[in-house]
Amino acid sequence: MSERRNGDLVVRHAAELLVCPADGDGLGTIEDGAVVARDGHVVWVGRTDELPDGLSRTNQSGGADDAAVDGSSPGEAAAGPEGGDRGPKVVDATGKVVMPGLVECHTHLVFGGSREYEFQMRSKGASYAEIAAAGGGIMSTVKATRAASTDELLERGRANLADMLRLGLTTVEAKSGYGLSVEHELRLLDIYRELDDEQPVDVVPTLLGAHVVAPEFRGRPDAYVDLVVGEMIPECARRGLARFCDVFCEEGAFTLEQSRRVLEVGLEHGLRPKLHADQFGDGGGGRLAAELGAVSADHLDHIGDAGIGAMAAAGVTAVLLPGAVAFLGLHHFAPARRLIDGGVHVALSTDFNPGTCHCMSPYLMATLASGYLKMDIAEVLRGYTCEAARALGLEDEVGSLEVGRKADIAVLDVPNAESIPYDFGMVQVETVVKDGKVVYDAHA
Ligand code: NIG
Ligand code: FE
Repeated sequence: MSERRNGDLVVRHAAELLVCPADGDGLGTIEDGAVVARDGHVVWVGRTDELPDGLSRTNQSGGADDAAVDGSSPGEAAAGPEGGDRGPKVVDATGKVVMPGLVECHTHLVFGGSREYEFQMRSKGASYAEIAAAGGGIMSTVKATRAASTDELLERGRANLADMLRLGLTTVEAKSGYGLSVEHELRLLDIYRELDDEQPVDVVPTLLGAHVVAPEFRGRPDAYVDLVVGEMIPECARRGLARFCDVFCEEGAFTLEQSRRVLEVGLEHGLRPKLHADQFGDGGGGRLAAELGAVSADHLDHIGDAGIGAMAAAGVTAVLLPGAVAFLGLHHFAPARRLIDGGVHVALSTDFNPGTCHCMSPYLMATLASGYLKMDIAEVLRGYTCEAARALGLEDEVGSLEVGRKADIAVLDVPNAESIPYDFGMVQVETVVKDGKVVYDAHA
């Protein structure tokens, strides 16, 4: 049996390898760590000096590092030489942190236009709600998204995902929500399907038809909800275009009752619920998430103790989005400590979108979560790996370097885990592995 059969790829000599086990609460740090992938999955993880010979034999005969990625482009590496009998590809992570490919569990990935002018209005004192009431906000992005061609939107999506991959993100949830008609919502989900098929990052699609009331239904929110539950959800489900159904449950968007209706019909059609909840006030969104067995409730900046208790009891993961608070110039961050101490699993995400967080960096979120949410290093890094995977119902597949998980791996140019939030906006990604293949190499 060739060595290649035994391992396709070895990442070795990590200063710290963070396993991020899905069960438990630590990082599972291994010093001088190594991980071996075969057929796209992790087959071994441990200390480099304990690498089993048969799995990892590399350059004893001088040839193995030839098969390493150095010098090959991301594209070549993705499709790259299989290594033959020369042994597995080898990534040397000396002095660096190796962790699971990061999971971004809440984005509005594709949209038309941009809203930098609103950001300036806020800097002069206008609020998010005031801008929305004046016709800006989500509605301006809906107009721009509807007006954009499918090719333009695909191109935006490709560029965004390429940027995300270079940040070490290997799984990205993507919401619709800027179409607000059956045609335009499903077009966004079609785009997500195409993007998922054509590039390495796994795109996990969510229908957010109930983002706000469509302009054609202004003043008639229940009629718009009728459209969402009567046509949009059934057609989305019939075509298998989404895994989750989300709703913006907030004053100015949808009431608790309207949200419940949308999410219940989603459930009937096999779409697990997610909620934008309790972002600007404690509107009971966290409790609704618990009642419906939602996979996650997101934002939660204003959730109260009743909501926290209900979410803990129902096993709903909280997705906290400190970037949205900071980007809006607000000061009221989610009560992460009360959530964690109350027994809720907490994930982190950017909320990447044109209005409330035009940022895709998990590392900036790590800094905000440390400073403002008072999450410790294990909570922060689990929040972007195994807990983010849990917020997508994917904790058995991604977000951890346990044996059997997908070999999605990020190598960061930092000496230890603590440097990730500390290197405020400066973390460099060295190498990204997706499904056992090197898909990004900073030095290629
Ligand atoms: O998650 N809160 C609602 N939706 C987005 C913002 C969308 C926008 O402003 O375009 C969010 O913050
Ligand atoms: Fe959002």
